[in-house]
Amino acid sequence: MLLPAAGYGERIGLGPKAFIRVGGKSLLEWAVEGFGWADEILVALPAGRGFELPIKTVVGGTTRQKSVFNLVQAATGEIVLVHDVARPFVVRSAVERLLGEVRQSGAATLAVFVPDTLVQAQEHQYGEVIPREHYRLVQTPQGFRREVLWQAHLNAQAGGLEFTDDAQLVLSLGHPVALVEGDRRMFKVTYPEDLLLAEGLARVWNAWPQPR
Ligand code: C5P
Repeated sequence: MLLPAAGYGERIGLGPKAFIRVGGKSLLEWAVEGFGWADEILVALPAGRGFELPIKTVVGGTTRQKSVFNLVQAATGEIVLVHDVARPFVVRSAVERLLGEVRQSGAATLAVFVPDTLVQAQEHQYGEVIPREHYRLVQTPQGFRREVLWQAHLNAQAGGLEFTDDAQLVLSLGHPVALVEGDRRMFKVTYPEDLLLAEGLARVWNAWPQPR
């Protein structure tokens, strides 16, 4: 289980996102607890930051991809999951669906349907409507055979390629990546208002323990 947690969370502006607190715990603690069943958890932290839980850490890089590179290099399992700490609520059933697919095909990501009308913006004007049924919003975790992910990272590094997620890295190797139905509770805390949603969900989560 690889947790890139070295981002600075500029869009929220409350310091490194992993340490923002929601429902009495940091986003990092939420993610670590959500994957408490994993064989191994590795966390990439901003340089100079520690973490109170007894968990293996590596120093993050200047981009998400560089942080994940450091994590994959330190990982040992045959299958690895990569999960953004910005998604504190880990829905076990969705992760099990993902793992089932990764064991079969070697690479998969969670993704959800687009609930709203999807439209092209043409300089603040309503442009062409895009058939939303053909699109998905990509979530994490994403899962890979470790060797495939490592080759993808080496390949991207050699070619100077930079991507926003690991699925794109693996695709750029020519390896297909399956889409597995995600869960909207695994939303990404990105904007200040997402913290309100997270506080609300944290209350439900704490009152109604999830399967571990
Ligand atoms: O900034 P964003 O929300 O896209 O970051 C996605 C994930 O990547 C977060 O979990 C963040 O902590 C991590 N990240 C990282 N190292 C960076 C930048 C982002 O580990 N240099």
